[in-house]
Order: sequence, then C-alpha cells, then structure tokens
Amino acid sequence: MINEVPPSVDTLWDKTEDQFMKTFKYYKSNKPPPLLAEVINIEDINNTDKILLLTQKNAVQEDERAKQLGLRELKSWQLYSFKEHPGLFLIRNPFTSNGQRYWIQKCLQVYPRKPNKRNIDMETNVEDWWEACHRHGRCDKQLMKKLRWTTLGYHHNWDTKVYSDDNKSVFPEELSALCDVVARYLGYEEFRAEAAIVNYYHMNSTLSAHTDHSEVNLEAPLFSFSFGQSAIFLIGGRDKTTVPSAILLNSGDVMVMSKEARLCYHAVPKILPYAPTPWNDEAFDDQLDIMYMKDTRRSPPFKLNEWSIFENYIKESRINMNVRQVLYETQCNLKD
Ligand code: OGA
Ligand code: MN
Repeated sequence: MINEVPPSVDTLWDKTEDQFMKTFKYYKSNKPPPLLAEVINIEDINNTDKILLLTQKNAVQEDERAKQLGLRELKSWQLYSFKEHPGLFLIRNPFTSNGQRYWIQKCLQVYPRKPNKRNIDMETNVEDWWEACHRHGRCDKQLMKKLRWTTLGYHHNWDTKVYSDDNKSVFPEELSALCDVVARYLGYEEFRAEAAIVNYYHMNSTLSAHTDHSEVNLEAPLFSFSFGQSAIFLIGGRDKTTVPSAILLNSGDVMVMSKEARLCYHAVPKILPYAPTPWNDEAFDDQLDIMYMKDTRRSPPFKLNEWSIFENYIKESRINMNVRQVLYETQCNLKD
C-alpha cells in the first residue's frame, strides 16, 4: 500500500501566500518595468475572453440631467462586466470632452477647498489649495504635488476607518447627481452618494491593497471615476490569497464595485501615461460653463487660456473620485 504523502510545507505556504502582494510588486516595479500583456484593456478587442459587453442600446432610458453633467447620451455608453469578477462593471468613458474638463476642474479647484478635509491639513492651513498654487501668476509646483486626497460628505477617517455624524460636510450636489445617473443606468434607483475620496496620483504614486468596508451599508455599490493619466487597477478576492486581475483604467472610465466585488481587495500599483487627450477632443461648450458658474462659489467659468493650467496638471497626474453610500436607505444618520 502506498502511503498518502502529506502536503509539504511548501504547498501549504503556496495557498496562504499573499498572492495579491506578489502581483502588486510585479506591476509596481520600474526596473524591470512590468509586461502589460495580461492587463485587461477594454480599448483592446483582443482581451474579449475576459470581459463581456453588456450594452443593450434599445433598453436604455435617457436621463435629462446627462448633458449638464458632461455625460453623453446613455444609449451610446458601453458597459462591460468581467467574467472572473461578478459584480464588477466598467463603463467605458461616458463623458464628453467638456464633461472631462468640468470634473477635472471640480476636483482641482473646488473639492480641495475647506471645509472639505485634505491630507495637506496636517501641514498647512490654506483655504483654497488651487488658488494658493497659482497665486501671483506663478505656479507653486511643490504645493501642487502635496495634495494626495480630499474627502467629501462623511469624511473618511484614515486612522479609525469609522465614519462619524460629527465629521461630515455637505456632499456636492453635482457629484451626487452624476452618481445617481450612473446608478440608475445600472438599475440602482435608491443609491445615495454620501461619502467620497478624491485621490490625486502623480506618475510614481501607488495605492496599496485594501478593502473598503467602513460604510454601514456594504450592499450599495461603489462608483469610481478616473481622469487624466491611466492606472493599472488590481482586483482580487475577499482575502489576499487569490491572484488579482489587472485592469487598465483610462480617463473618463467609470468602475462600479457591487455585490461580490464590493468587498474584494483592490489596489493601484502603477500609473501609466495615456497618449490620447479625451479632455481636448471637442470644442468648448458654453452650457457647461453656465452650469459651472451656477453651482460653484467664487469660480469663474473656465476659458481656454485658463484651462491650460488644469491641462498641465492632468498631463502628469491621475484623479480618481471614489464615491460611496454610507447609510441604509432607512437611515438619516449613523445613529438611526
Ligand atoms: C479608493 C480606491 C482606486 C483608484 O479610493 O478606495 O480604491 O482607482 N481608489 O484610484
Ligand atoms: Mn478602494
């Protein structure tokens, strides 16, 4: 009789090993740079074995707010799912060029203003970061590079990871409307945008492996908007033992983490240059300027010459707006 061979320490180790970290390090590396052949790129049709195009043009109901929010007609959107990641969806850039410029400008000029919280609050007390970066017609590159995140609505507490009713500011109406349009498109009629992190990445920035579990309501989807340079986004399983998939996120793309994908480990190991400039593809449209003036304190409408300072930033950076619902639909605050 042949004795059954007990599993070696090596094979046990393989199963519990941090596969996520291995992949993260692979893509983070500069020397040697990673091969991108395995990265899922929705702009590359050769990757179709890992993704499914779900769009059903006829079934889509238009939303009259779309144009004002810088979105194209909903019937032209391309919605993808990922075979290995149920609950994960990607809408390929549904924004017009004006829309991209509008949101980039919001993220740089408006959202980092007090009373929103920012990483730079620990070392400076500037009210208006963008204005301080461009005071006296100069460009303070050092201050510009310092901004890594700003939080809106229920402020994410990076230490305790616990939200509090005493630590929130008004959630921007236009961002809430944007999420509402996207949520309804996916059949989530009840979604309420209540907390957001805006992440600012430079070409060498990374975001390490984590799950987003601070929200009371973890059944609501999470919406993640990318602008500027591209990112390699890793998504794995509920723990770090599964090998994650790598997905390329380009300017304008909207990632939705719902159901099984909502609590999966994810990370950004690398920012990659993106050759196209979708924020410049179409001529400037006055209608968004009007909308911008209406809902923005102190901000002038953006003009061509002014856009160039935003453009200079976005040519070397990536911005991610990461929006969550915190409460259950029946709650008005955390204590309910
Ligand atoms: C986050 C996050 C991902 C991204 O802010 O929690 O996961 O694409 N961001 O930047
Ligand atoms: Mn996250």
